[in-house]
Amino acid sequence: MLILSLESSCDETAAAVVKDGRTVLSSIVASQISVHAEYGGVVPEIASRQHLEAVSVVIEEALREAGVGLAEIEGVAVTQGPGLAGALLVGISAAKGLSFGRGIPLVGVNHIEGHLLAVFLEQPVEFPFLALAVSGGHSHLYRVDGVGRYKTLGQTVDDAAGEAFDKVAKLIGLPYPGGVAIDRLAATGNPEAIKFPRPLLHDGTFNFSFSGLKTAVLTHVNRHPEAKEAGINDLAASFQEAVCDVLTKKTAAAVAATGIKRLVVAGGVACNSGLRRSMARFAEKAGVELSIPAPKLCADNAAMIAVPGDYYLSNGITSGFDLDALPVWPL
Ligand code: KG4
Ligand code: ZN
Repeated sequence: MLILSLESSCDETAAAVVKDGRTVLSSIVASQISVHAEYGGVVPEIASRQHLEAVSVVIEEALREAGVGLAEIEGVAVTQGPGLAGALLVGISAAKGLSFGRGIPLVGVNHIEGHLLAVFLEQPVEFPFLALAVSGGHSHLYRVDGVGRYKTLGQTVDDAAGEAFDKVAKLIGLPYPGGVAIDRLAATGNPEAIKFPRPLLHDGTFNFSFSGLKTAVLTHVNRHPEAKEAGINDLAASFQEAVCDVLTKKTAAAVAATGIKRLVVAGGVACNSGLRRSMARFAEKAGVELSIPAPKLCADNAAMIAVPGDYYLSNGITSGFDLDALPVWPL
């Protein structure tokens, strides 16, 4: 099936044309980051208005780059949630318009499901596999038995990993989005310089907690103000190391407990170079088949929405025009 997919759950307006849920013919992402950076984070009202301005532009661009006309598109997949209600509604309304106007089927897709399955745009992964979804809103470990068959093994009990990166970055005076800024500074810092806590590491669950780590960073910079100046690279590297260490060790424990030796790491935080390194080290040692998509497929994009979208539409699973945004939608 030739699918047009849309994503507008947060601060990226994206459209893609994907064939059979596997081949990306085009993937256009219009980022609003520079607009929100001024406010130190995403402003929902501004996000909705920016989506409205960008949505038809990215759709036209996606069709042009794919070299296909709207008449050739056979189905529309759109992020239905989780995310910002007003932002989601822009993509959903555009998708409904396309579906109605062309008389082609429509399906609403869970954003996290898109992240988990984005890897199929690069290579097939055999089911079952374990998946760590780490983004601005999620730090979840899943067992994936098939498309639409997800079992939550663990999740954050407070902040998501990306949220921790963004909050800590703000705390030490770095621009939004913080994850990228910390990653960059950490590259030349000493990860052993400051021993930050590893929350819940030995609690016997697959849950995560990152808010205590954020407090530990705050306490450290209050006691050592120089850490925000000359010591900022070491601070960034030590914080990043603590997050990556917990994410990797908890994932390793899930691999050991389930005996499943296939692992996918997905979501915006999967762009982090420290996490990619520590997961690769673990996978190599434990004989785990590790798949982490290229950064452009880990960050928010519409192509990933077409993977489950194609599966559902091909199996006759569609949404009606009463499709509504689901700001909170556990997988
Ligand atoms: O998946 P995503 O693009 O959007 C959501 O679904 O939330 O993830 C965004 C999150 C942000 O918190 C951002 O700071 C983080 O991913 N992020 C990173 C990196 N690139 C993006 N975190 C750490 N290191 C990075 N290189
Ligand atoms: Zn995302």
